[in-house]
Amino acid sequence: MNNRPYNNFTDELRQRLSIVDIVSRRVPLTKKGQNYWGCCPFHNEKTPSFSVSEDKGFYHCFGCGEHGDIISFTMKSENVDFKTAIKELADMAGLKIPDYKPRDVAEIAREESYVKITDDAAKTYQQKLFEPAGEHALNYIRGRGFTDDMIKKYRIGYAPKNNIISGTFTNVRQDALIATGLVRHGEYGIYDFFRDKLMFPIFNAHGQIVAFSGRSLDGSEPKYINTTDTELFHKRQTIFGFNFARDAIHRANRSIVVEGQIDAIQMQCNGFPETVAPLGTALTEDHIAILCKANRNITFCFDGDAAGQKAAVRACGIVLPFLRDNSDVRFAFVTGGKDPDEVLKTGGTGAMKKIIDSSVGIIDFLWDTTNKTYLTSTPGGRSQAEKFLKAQIDKIVDTDFRREIENEYDSRKFNQWHKWSKKKNDAANIELPSVDDVTKNTLIYIVNRFPEIVEQYGDFLSTLNIDFDIPVIVELNFDAKAAEKFIVSLKLQRYITRLNNDKKAVLQLALSGDAGASTLIKDLDDELKSANEKLEKLMNME
Ligand code: UTP
Ligand code: MN
Repeated sequence: MNNRPYNNFTDELRQRLSIVDIVSRRVPLTKKGQNYWGCCPFHNEKTPSFSVSEDKGFYHCFGCGEHGDIISFTMKSENVDFKTAIKELADMAGLKIPDYKPRDVAEIAREESYVKITDDAAKTYQQKLFEPAGEHALNYIRGRGFTDDMIKKYRIGYAPKNNIISGTFTNVRQDALIATGLVRHGEYGIYDFFRDKLMFPIFNAHGQIVAFSGRSLDGSEPKYINTTDTELFHKRQTIFGFNFARDAIHRANRSIVVEGQIDAIQMQCNGFPETVAPLGTALTEDHIAILCKANRNITFCFDGDAAGQKAAVRACGIVLPFLRDNSDVRFAFVTGGKDPDEVLKTGGTGAMKKIIDSSVGIIDFLWDTTNKTYLTSTPGGRSQAEKFLKAQIDKIVDTDFRREIENEYDSRKFNQWHKWSKKKNDAANIELPSVDDVTKNTLIYIVNRFPEIVEQYGDFLSTLNIDFDIPVIVELNFDAKAAEKFIVSLKLQRYITRLNNDKKAVLQLALSGDAGASTLIKDLDDELKSANEKLEKLMNME
């Protein structure tokens, strides 16, 4: 029985904070092999024999034998007591120290009884799935490609329309039933929270059922309802499928994160046992902390649509503080409005493998996102892009790694933004063809006849390199309106020629694999379209 009051919270601190970060505030560390090394702060030395293991979360001095974790390091290096150290670390982690009541025998017994009630409920739901009342649920889940083995392994069940838990768990105290989230207080006594639902048990990391996710079967919304948070279940800290995936994550040396629980189950059963899903749609820092504790290589798998892209950017922001120089964090996108479940169903493991294999690493993902989000062909866009990138990079705690990433992006910025905008300017400087003699004659006529138009379009006219002092060869019969129309259309035509020149240059860049090019081609196309429309409108004008 565990009576140490800070037990759970210290674990959380150890999970949240990197020992390398904590130690390197006081001792400069260098990475050699798996570990980080520095001169021991607890005895006098000139050659480093103080090693810090990020994975194990502790330090050890081979010179003086000192060893410990983030808490003992803080206590010893700052000469403070346990409570102060915890307080400091909690501040650093942005966590509030919970009010501790020591966990007593009664509390543990209570939790155990909740686990038992929840497990009994799961058993009841499992039975109901195979009874006549559950026929539609069984047909549904089989229709989704679940074999009987899968139904058994994931302990899938059916919560009938009537109040099965509140009605039949009569030997259990009401407050205990309510504490599990399975039943609620209503106007006429207690009633079941889950009714006519396909039931997916939610397991904790130890494989105990702590909650349920119920899927509606009649098309009613919301599609899924989950047990609200209870003493046993904290939605933000629970990852669906983790208990089944943990060993596979070690074997595969990565985890895969998908959006839905059916997706996670189908992935686990079809070649990707290392797959998990957050509960509900939002991924939390706690989810990532749990996954990173198991393995820092994570492949996120999102929808290919705008919402999926947005969720990916969000996940990226959450995962960056957990990124180390040996982590491989990747982003995969399922296109065509499908989710992994549908991909597996239509294309099998092979189709899914292709998607996972086509994932992009976080450094490229961040770069691509930046270039997609900001107009890096303009100074303002580049400035915004820089700010965004910097805010992201600043989340990385490993200082060497952060510097390397900065360097990497600096070189990309130079090669793709600046070099590229220089090339674009070169393209813009390509001389436009000189105007033909008829056009020249017309312009000379206009210049001599309509000083007010020259005033307005003088800048443009001077770019044409025409000697306006020579006499008109053929006299014309233009009025001021026709004259202006002539000049504006010439201006537009030359602008269109220039845009087309630009586009040719940019297409060249795109062919040489320039990531920034595609955005600009789109801009150029938009601009071309609007210039052509203006020209057409002008020509049709009387
Ligand atoms: P989706 O809407 O993509 O559903 O939600 P899905 O997983 O494809 O569901 P199926 O395949 O139709 O059964 C993705 C995840 O978001 C959560 C669930 O965890 C779901 O798996 N969700 C969705 C909810 O919590 N509530 C909802 O109402 C909908
Ligand atoms: Mn689905």
